[in-house]
Amino acid sequence: MQTVYDLAGLRAQVNEWHRAGGTIAFVPTMGNLHEGHISLLHRAREIADHTVVSIFVNPIQFGKGEDYAKYPSTLAADQEKLAAAGLDLLFAPNLDALYPGGIEEDTRVTVPGLSTILCGRFRPGHFSGVATVVSKLFINAQPDFALFGLKDYQQVLVIKRMVHDLLMPVEVIGMPIVRETDGLAMSSRNSYLNAAERARAPIIYRTITEAATALENGETSIAELEESGMKRLAETGFRPEYFSVRRSTDLEEPGPGDSELSILVAAWLGNARLIDNVQLRLKTPLL
Ligand code: PAJ
Repeated sequence: MQTVYDLAGLRAQVNEWHRAGGTIAFVPTMGNLHEGHISLLHRAREIADHTVVSIFVNPIQFGKGEDYAKYPSTLAADQEKLAAAGLDLLFAPNLDALYPGGIEEDTRVTVPGLSTILCGRFRPGHFSGVATVVSKLFINAQPDFALFGLKDYQQVLVIKRMVHDLLMPVEVIGMPIVRETDGLAMSSRNSYLNAAERARAPIIYRTITEAATALENGETSIAELEESGMKRLAETGFRPEYFSVRRSTDLEEPGPGDSELSILVAAWLGNARLIDNVQLRLKTPLL
């Protein structure tokens, strides 16, 4: 495995691969890698000739008072995991490499609509920060495929819309959520939980799977399901931001005729903001 820290090194390698007719699959990350990230790399290796992973903690997708400064940085351990998983090229730029003009006056990429609902409502500017850095990475890594985890379901839709609207020649692939054995979705932020919180954290997944089962069994009052999901989380020590049933295609509120649904949740537990989601298909569309 090769590690490059600058754009010139990244471009030289991907150009060489492309000139030789090879395809490239790319996995952007913020590091502190776990099995969820590594599952994306495994798939990347299956679908392309060469694999690139980036590690960059992107300041502009963090809001004021969020965890940018304390976001866990574990580059040496990450490099070991990536090498063991058979990665070809790691791109680990510093702040100047991706934001040569600083972060205040930088050009931004914004996907309208999708960016202001659900997580976007509670994290203004977050998805614009994500879309901007992913654009910079795509332009320089020139991937044929880019893999993202459905753990960040809204992020996948934002990136797909961006790629579609900006005519980027990249195929965006959403990959299943990797979970701990008790159901908790793997996340770098799980390390913020203390032992008691960690023991309680799987409730978040249980709450959305139970709501999914209720919908599959014919429950039609979405408002009530959302309300009881919020209540259950609040009663068990979470500080829920949203518990929402949405249309899977565009995250709009579901209406008559819809059958492909997602249940999405964001809730604080101690110092950790946890998100999770499930998808389901109703046998009979909503009336
Ligand atoms: P990060 O949180 O490091 O996640 C990198 C990728 O790993 C994302 O596509 C995320 O959805 C995926 N991932 C995280 N946990 C996962 C899990 N348990 N199962 C499956 N996939 C999982 O998401 C970001 O970084 C950033 O926003 C980024 C796209 C890199 C832009 O800065």
